[in-house]
Amino acid sequence: MSPRLRIGVIGFGRMGRGFVAELLRSKVWEVVSICDGWEPSRQTAKRTVPGAVVTADPDAVLNDSSLDVVGLFTLADARPQLIRKALKNKLHIIAEKPLAAGSAAEWKLVKAIEASDRLVAVNIFNRNAWYHQEIVNFIRSGQIGDLAIVRVCHMTPGHMPTEGHDPEGPPFHDCGMHYVDVARWYAQSEYASWHAQGARLWNYKEPWWVTAHGVFKNGVVFDITQGFVYGHLSQVKTHNCYAEAIGTKGVARMTHNFRTATIELHGVTETISKTAPFGDKKIDVMLDVFARSIMAGKNLGFPIARDSAIASEVAWAMLRDAAKNNPPAIGTPAQMQAILEHRKALTDGYGLPVRDGTADNRLIAPIACGEELCCQPVKAGARRKAC
Ligand SMILES: NC(=O)c1ccc[n+]([C@@H]2O[C@H](COP(=O)([O-])OP(=O)(O)OC[C@H]3O[C@@H](n4cnc5c(N)ncnc54)[C@H](O)[C@@H]3O)[C@@H](O)[C@H]2O)c1
Repeated sequence: MSPRLRIGVIGFGRMGRGFVAELLRSKVWEVVSICDGWEPSRQTAKRTVPGAVVTADPDAVLNDSSLDVVGLFTLADARPQLIRKALKNKLHIIAEKPLAAGSAAEWKLVKAIEASDRLVAVNIFNRNAWYHQEIVNFIRSGQIGDLAIVRVCHMTPGHMPTEGHDPEGPPFHDCGMHYVDVARWYAQSEYASWHAQGARLWNYKEPWWVTAHGVFKNGVVFDITQGFVYGHLSQVKTHNCYAEAIGTKGVARMTHNFRTATIELHGVTETISKTAPFGDKKIDVMLDVFARSIMAGKNLGFPIARDSAIASEVAWAMLRDAAKNNPPAIGTPAQMQAILEHRKALTDGYGLPVRDGTADNRLIAPIACGEELCCQPVKAGARRKAC
C-alpha cells in the first residue's frame, strides 16, 4: 500500500502507546506527530518516535493538513472537542471509547460523525476479535438453533479506584461497556429491560462489581457480570472471563487467559474447538481494517460510533440501576489502600496505569464542563482551576 498513511496521535498514555507501538510495526502507517499534556509522556514519545513532532498542543496535530488520520487516545472528556475539530479539518479518526464522558455528548457526536464523509472507528475492540466473530457467525449459521441466552463475564484484579479514568466511570461503564456491546452483538437486538446489582467493595462509594440480567427486544435473555475485584491481593493472580451463547439446540462459548483464547462450538452438525492468540486489544486488526477502509473509501468492517454510543448509554443505565439497588459495602478502606500500595510495586499486572518511572505521575483528567473539554490538563494533586 503506497503512499503511507500519515497519522497524528493525541493522548500518549497506556492506549496511545499501544497504538503507536503497533503503528511503528506497520509498513502502512507513518507516525507524524504525538501530543500529550503531560511532560513525562512527551519525553517518552520523543524516545519512542524520534522523527515525530512531539507537542503539548492538540491543535498542532489537528491543524496539520498533511495528515490523513488522527488517533484520539485521551480520556473521554477531552474527546468531543477533538473529534469535532478533526472532522472540521477533514481528518479520518480512530477514537478510543467512550466517545465522550456522557451519553448526550456521545449522541451529538454520533450525529456529527454520521453526517460527515470521514471514516471514524471507535475501539470497541471485541468487534475486532477473531473469537467473537467466529461465535457470531456460528450463531447466524443456525448451528445452535434459536439463540435464547447470552452470558458474559469479565472479572480481573484490574483498575482500582483513584488510578485514573474518572470520566469513564466505575468499571461497569469503563470496561463493562465492551461486554454490554458483545451481548448486544450476539443477540442482534436492542436492550429492552434489566435489573442490576452491585457490591461496593472496600466500602468505596461506587460499586466496583456489578451484575445485570435482563432481556433484549427479540426475547433473548442475558446476564453480564463485570468487576475489577477479583483477588487483587492473592498470591498468584487470576481472572474469570468468558462469553457463551446458548441456543435451543446447541451452545457456543469462549474463554481466554489474556495470552490465548479458546472457542468451543457445539452445533447440531459441527463441533469445533480452537485455541489461538488472544491478541490483547486487537490494535493490529483495527489498524489494518482502517487502512484498507481508507483505501477503499468505505468501512470494510471497523467498529463504529453508533455501537459504542449504545453500549456506553446502556452501561451507564445499568450502573445507575445497580447504584439504586443498595449495593452493600463490603470490606474496608484499609484493604483498598493495601491493594493500591501493592499495585504501585507491580511491574506486571492487570490494567496497571502508566507511571513513567515516578510514583504518582498521571494526569488528573481535564475537567469536563457539560460536554466540552474546557481546561488544560493539571498534574495529579494540583489544584484544578475553575473553567
Ligand atoms: N478499548 C479499550 O479496550 C480500552 C482500554 C483501556 C482504555 N481505553 C480508553 O482509552 C482512553 C485512554 O485510556 P488510557 O488508559 O490510555 O489512559 P491514560 O491516562 O494512560 O492516558 C491518557 C493520556 O492522555 C493525555 N491527555 C489527557 N487529556 C489530554 C489533552 N486534552 N491533550 C493532550 N493529552 C491529553 C494524558 O496526559 C495521558 O497521557 C480512555 O478513554 C479509556 O477509556 C480503552
